[in-house]
Amino acid sequence: MSTLPAVRTVRVELEDRGYDILVGPGLIASAGAHLKPLLRRARVAIVTDETVAGIHLPALEASLDAQGIRHDVIILPAGETTKRFAELQRVAEWLLEIGIERGDLVIALGGGVIGDLTGFAASIVRRGVDFAQIPTTLLSQVDSSVGGKTGINTAQGKNLIGAFYQPRLVLADTGALETLPMRELMAGYAEVVKYGLINDRPFFDWLEANLDAIKEGDVAARTHAIVKSCEAKAHIVAMDERESNVRALLNLGHTFGHALEAATGFSQRLVHGEGVAVGMALAFDLSVKLGLCPGQDALRVHRHLERAGLPNRLADVAGPLPDADGLIALMGQDKKVVDGKLTFILARGIGEAFITRDVEPDALRELLSQREAAL
Ligand code: NAD
Ligand code: GLY
Repeated sequence: MSTLPAVRTVRVELEDRGYDILVGPGLIASAGAHLKPLLRRARVAIVTDETVAGIHLPALEASLDAQGIRHDVIILPAGETTKRFAELQRVAEWLLEIGIERGDLVIALGGGVIGDLTGFAASIVRRGVDFAQIPTTLLSQVDSSVGGKTGINTAQGKNLIGAFYQPRLVLADTGALETLPMRELMAGYAEVVKYGLINDRPFFDWLEANLDAIKEGDVAARTHAIVKSCEAKAHIVAMDERESNVRALLNLGHTFGHALEAATGFSQRLVHGEGVAVGMALAFDLSVKLGLCPGQDALRVHRHLERAGLPNRLADVAGPLPDADGLIALMGQDKKVVDGKLTFILARGIGEAFITRDVEPDALRELLSQREAAL
């Protein structure tokens, strides 16, 4: 009988708000034991979605039962449209109704949608109750469960209402990925690629060599990718928790991506990680257009995303899209807009991303007018 790989720990160093991210197999089944030391009393609330509830909730509940921890559960619809005011109100009022007090803990069991919504609800209920993340998608394990960005979408755009609110613990159970559809796995993989593109060319090289292993379920490769991603994010968050400067690098591809998500109605036409994939490729194309980045590097980015089965050109997005000016208007809702000027994350090459506000509007318009080959 083969033994399970060891659980790895990544620390997010944030003084009194610091916490551990545990990465490894069996963490949902052992969650009760990991959470118990954090509890003021033996009760928690769980927020999850319909899909995850049907697969992973029983193991979490059994692990809480085994530790004598009482638990109430609310199950929300799955999907991006759950990140809205109506569901936030439902969760917040439910937490009050079941008597969750200051010092009690709320568990987010699910992907980034559940994590973002639950974290935000936890931040406002009784002016802040504790919460823990049990991310079940690759995207949430490598990105959204770490760093304390929480929030919801509005008609005006993505994540425009929210708070910085750190979890007490993150349990990233690699076993949860075994039930994740390949499309969602690869959408999360886009965020893994992001860390290589920002400042770690050797990691991008490693991903090029290990993409197939990650896709095929190699646990060691997946664990390495998750741990490296969490380490990269934890390092940046520790330097700039509230995104005054370097944290903006983590938004590589997101200004384009969020505009495309809005343009496609936050629907299955383009899930978040896919929007990020197209956005990162566009950021590299724009960097080439502005004479900042070698074309070869942008080509490598396109080829790698293509191999992962990820969209990487506007033409890859199913259905009609607004024209260039329409997309630029959607980009204008970005949280990084300062004095009406967009902030861009561009690159001088793979692993050399930087933040700038100096982008010629004409170059951007031209880029977004090209729907087919962007290079
Ligand atoms: P998601 O939460 O919608 O999950 C994707 C789908 O997978 C859902 O249908 C879900 O029910 C299903 N699912 C989840 N775990 C599963 C499992 N183990 N097996 C089978 N199905 C499973 O989407 P996501 O990609 O995890 O997260 C996207 C969200 O994260 C976006 O709203 C994005 O804005 C947000 N995000 C936030 C941050 C942050 O820093 N807070 C960072 C990146 C992304
Ligand atoms: N996903 C971007 C951030 O957490 O800052």
